[in-house]
Amino acid sequence: MQRRAFTLAALATPFALQAAEPVKVGFLVKQAEEPWFQDEWKFAEQAAKDKGFTLVKIGVPNGEKTLAAIDNLAAQKAVGFVICAPDVKLGLAINRAAKRHKLKVISVDDQLVDGAGKPIADIPHMGISGYEIGKQVGAGLLAEIKARGWKLDEVGVLRVAYDQLPTGRERTMGAADALKAAGVPAANIVDAPQAKTDTESAFNAANIAFTKNAKFKKWVAFGLNDEAALGAVRAGEGRGIKADAMLAIGIGGSQTALNEFTKPTATGFFGTVLISPKRHGYETATMVFEWATQGKQPPAVTLTSGVLMTRQNQADIRKQMGL
Ligand code: GLA
Repeated sequence: MQRRAFTLAALATPFALQAAEPVKVGFLVKQAEEPWFQDEWKFAEQAAKDKGFTLVKIGVPNGEKTLAAIDNLAAQKAVGFVICAPDVKLGLAINRAAKRHKLKVISVDDQLVDGAGKPIADIPHMGISGYEIGKQVGAGLLAEIKARGWKLDEVGVLRVAYDQLPTGRERTMGAADALKAAGVPAANIVDAPQAKTDTESAFNAANIAFTKNAKFKKWVAFGLNDEAALGAVRAGEGRGIKADAMLAIGIGGSQTALNEFTKPTATGFFGTVLISPKRHGYETATMVFEWATQGKQPPAVTLTSGVLMTRQNQADIRKQMGL
């Protein structure tokens, strides 16, 4: 009798499994190796666990891989995806592919735009308030310039720039504007355009800028993320611009920043504006899931805030942010 029951249960299993096949939500990011995106994935995984869906994580370093990933998600019968695209101008192509496969799509971090550079209205977005957070970077730099007794007109200001990405431009312009408003001469601001948003590209860009502007002996530096600020710090170190002559504040607060803060002696990487990979990862993945399965329309745009974190207050601040 017992054996028979067992056999029936075994027979029933394949059907039971089929009925319970979990809902799949994709999470596509442009730079999977960057700590920020690792954190976003981590929190999206947490959402998947809490809400009961399966997360499909795919790195999409270029346009071709992005479109292939969307096809792949459709083949896996995913219900939708969150994306931080390698180029925001892929917006129309991404929207078309999503619509063709009936997949819900939400952008995170970098808002997708159309051919004219206008945000695509029917793709909900969650990103940071770029200009405001840039101003926080500027305010943090100004406070520390003052604490160090530097004169505003003697500092070179390195803006590691990635202006083809609107949020990148907003962030760094916010910082530059805050410095100018406080009295830093506009002529002291040096743009260092980076080819990509990673540390190496920032390092290369900063090196060129330092060479061309050797008259400045003290520098402040910032960029769209921690990697940009760190690239500037490393380039400075290579040219003898050490922690006492360099003051950089990044944006992010993930492992890139934490690694600097835990070094035995302080580097020129003074601080970062900590933003929330938890909100960006957890909430966007949940939104796609609830939109696809419950018809709950996500807000058109959600902008998140940040808080200045330094070597001194990092443990407290991260705890407060639930990280
Ligand atoms: C952009 C940057 C990332 C990170 C996110 C945060 O995508 O490239 O490094 O700063 O924004 O929103």
